[in-house]
Amino acid sequence: MILVELKPLNRAVDADVENLLDQAFGADRFTRTAYRVRAGLSPLATLSFSAWDGDALVGALQSWAVALAGDDGSRHPLVMVGPVAVSPVVQRGGMGKQMMAHMLAIAADAADGALMLVGDAPYYSRFFGFDTAATTGWRLPGPFDPARLLARPVGEFVPPNLSGMIVGDPQRR
Ligand SMILES: CC(C)(COP(=O)(O)OP(=O)(O)OC[C@H]1O[C@@H](n2cnc3c(N)ncnc32)[C@H](O)[C@@H]1OP(=O)(O)O)[C@@H](O)C(=O)NCCC(=O)NCCS
Repeated sequence: MILVELKPLNRAVDADVENLLDQAFGADRFTRTAYRVRAGLSPLATLSFSAWDGDALVGALQSWAVALAGDDGSRHPLVMVGPVAVSPVVQRGGMGKQMMAHMLAIAADAADGALMLVGDAPYYSRFFGFDTAATTGWRLPGPFDPARLLARPVGEFVPPNLSGMIVGDPQRR
């Protein structure tokens, strides 16, 4: 188990975060549909973190303001979690869990909508309670695997079980 210090994301230099994301996801990560949802947004400061082993940046978790634009004309604020990235040299050491647990604890009070993400269900379902129960009618602005489109209640917010498109929500910060 690696003990790391979690700090606000903006303590890290942007280029170092980008380098970490390249290492975790590969340099072709920009082709992922999640990037289309997040285009033009800035990470939510209260729900985005950097993880440090001394002076070394070893992890990052970013969250974003998005919304479900329902086909019925309704609009539902959501918080998109991810990328969650752990430096390959320290993966499987508990850091991903530590960053997610920290985010969930803060989100219980700070989130202004239910949580959603595009990611590996075996990880995010098993440890953090994300599932596809509400997301079967959700669409993204590009190709995606429905088994990886996951959501989770937080605080008073429940993922809306409606059909619609996930869009960025730049007004919220
Ligand atoms: C996915 C990631 C965030 C997990 O963080 P981590 O610090 O490496 O993992 P943790 O130590 O928190 O968790 C370890 C446990 O999760 C499991 N696990 C880790 N990544 C997993 C994955 N992608 N799918 C399923 N299970 C996974 C491990 O098998 C281990 O299980 P165990 O406790 O039964 O041994 C990290 O490995 C990472 O950044 N990977 C590169 C990016 C990536 O592939 N992301 C995929 C999800 S979108």
